[in-house]
Amino acid sequence: MTTYTERDVEAFFDQTLRHYLDFWDSEGVLHTGIFASDEDEDYAAAADRTSAVLADQAGIDAASRVLDAGCGCGNFATYLAERFGCQVEGLDLSEERVSFATQRLASGHARVAGLVTFRHGSVTQMPYDDGTFTHVVSQDALFLVPDKPRSHAEIFRVLRPGGRFACSDFLQPSPVIGEQARKHVYDRVRWNGGFSLAGYQDALSSAGFSSIAATDLQRHIKQTYRVLGAMATERAQITEDAAGRDWMRAFAESCEQIQAAIGRGEFGWGMFVARKGA
Ligand SMILES: C[S@@+](CC[C@H](N)C(=O)[O-])C[C@H]1O[C@@H](n2cnc3c(N)ncnc32)[C@H](O)[C@@H]1O
Repeated sequence: MTTYTERDVEAFFDQTLRHYLDFWDSEGVLHTGIFASDEDEDYAAAADRTSAVLADQAGIDAASRVLDAGCGCGNFATYLAERFGCQVEGLDLSEERVSFATQRLASGHARVAGLVTFRHGSVTQMPYDDGTFTHVVSQDALFLVPDKPRSHAEIFRVLRPGGRFACSDFLQPSPVIGEQARKHVYDRVRWNGGFSLAGYQDALSSAGFSSIAATDLQRHIKQTYRVLGAMATERAQITEDAAGRDWMRAFAESCEQIQAAIGRGEFGWGMFVARKGA
């Protein structure tokens, strides 16, 4: 089994930005959706719903100072600034994504440009002083960190006493991962492995967090990959660039395997809210 480093993760997210923009979301959103029903196929609305739910669970308001850890193309950070008028920092390992986020902010979200800053860097070595933030949030990013005790310690450090950490993240419910899941779920995105829902809570507790709430969102991740697989298949049919087309077809094939892996308990999704201090 390959063990991926942060450099491997960085290279993957730098190199795949264009492919993802071409079929997943042209604005760069790259997270799991919360769907309104089993028949709902509107990925964009479902992805927005995840952001709204996470912001509500985090308890963000106009006075908040927020860090989005693994901000990707910066959609959640701009959403928070636009909805609440709060200050937001976005930190991401992929320079390509940080650059896209910065350009997107200046061109399409100039109204909140003074409230939002994007930086290239790792959540395992954050460029912020102790106690800088009232909230650290994250969407589907922390699972990728090879050294999770280190990223948890950094999140704890940069939060103020009483501050909140709220994230959605991928889970590894089963300790045993078969060959197909290893290939299509884990190796595909340079992911070594993660926690079960209860294991995630234990890890946050070990990092010093308290009042840890966890929600299992298994149903929604399956639907996300069902809908995205169909989107990739459709888009591949009208894509002229051969490399892009092959990539979309391979992704659509992986989506079948990903849904099967979810059914076997080899892949999951959850939301967590925790507090620094009592
Ligand atoms: C699946 S994407 C999610 C992006 C964004 N949160 C969203 O919802 O659209 C995962 C992101 O985590 C970032 N990432 C992975 N490891 C990281 C690390 N150690 N520090 C900062 N960002 C990291 C990747 O570069 C990528 O942009």
